[in-house]
Amino acid sequence: MEVRAYRPQLDYRAILGAQCDLYQINFPRFLCSPAFLADQAQRLRIAARRPFENGIFVLADEAALAGFIWVSVRSDLQGPYGSVDQVYLWPLYRHRGLGVLLMDAAHAYIRQQGLELARLYVTRDNDDAVRLYERQGYRVTRYEMERAESRPES
Ligand SMILES: CC(C)(COP(=O)(O)OP(=O)(O)OC[C@H]1O[C@@H](n2cnc3c(N)ncnc32)[C@H](O)[C@@H]1OP(=O)(O)O)[C@@H](O)C(=O)NCCC(=O)NCCS
Repeated sequence: MEVRAYRPQLDYRAILGAQCDLYQINFPRFLCSPAFLADQAQRLRIAARRPFENGIFVLADEAALAGFIWVSVRSDLQGPYGSVDQVYLWPLYRHRGLGVLLMDAAHAYIRQQGLELARLYVTRDNDDAVRLYERQGYRVTRYEMERAESRPES
């Protein structure tokens, strides 16, 4: 197993192929459409051309991919930060302690870009991801809250 930088010719299809699963796990009402996939394909192509704004790393198991991580450099009212946008292990590779290898690559990239803060969003019910991030030192700083509205009876 080795973590290496994303190589479009080798990795593009696999990463694109994981997008529906990644979003379906985290957004229960999400429907994976051809338009969504086309958008993600475009984002991936642009990201590969902008290595100072995007760090994409894969965990390779010989010729197969075990997982990947995608970090982007962003800025908001509090200043610049490294945003860990996507972390994914294919099912066979989960619960083996491999997520940390991807997180280490993301954090090294963030430091190389001169940034002092890593940030991410995670779905509260995604226990595996929350545990991984907490073990890596992430702490909750904001909540996104929802309230279900029932439809008026007709
Ligand atoms: C999120 C995700 C990357 C976490 O991967 P993971 O394999 O559960 O987490 P880790 O790599 O940290 O592995 C730790 C688990 O492996 C177990 N493990 C087994 N062997 C281990 C070893 N040698 N060393 C460390 N942990 C080991 C640990 O006990 C731990 O299990 P636990 O969390 O049930 O206690 C993975 O679940 C995933 O890809 N999910 C789908 C995509 C997704 O939702 N991504 C997050 C979007 S925000």
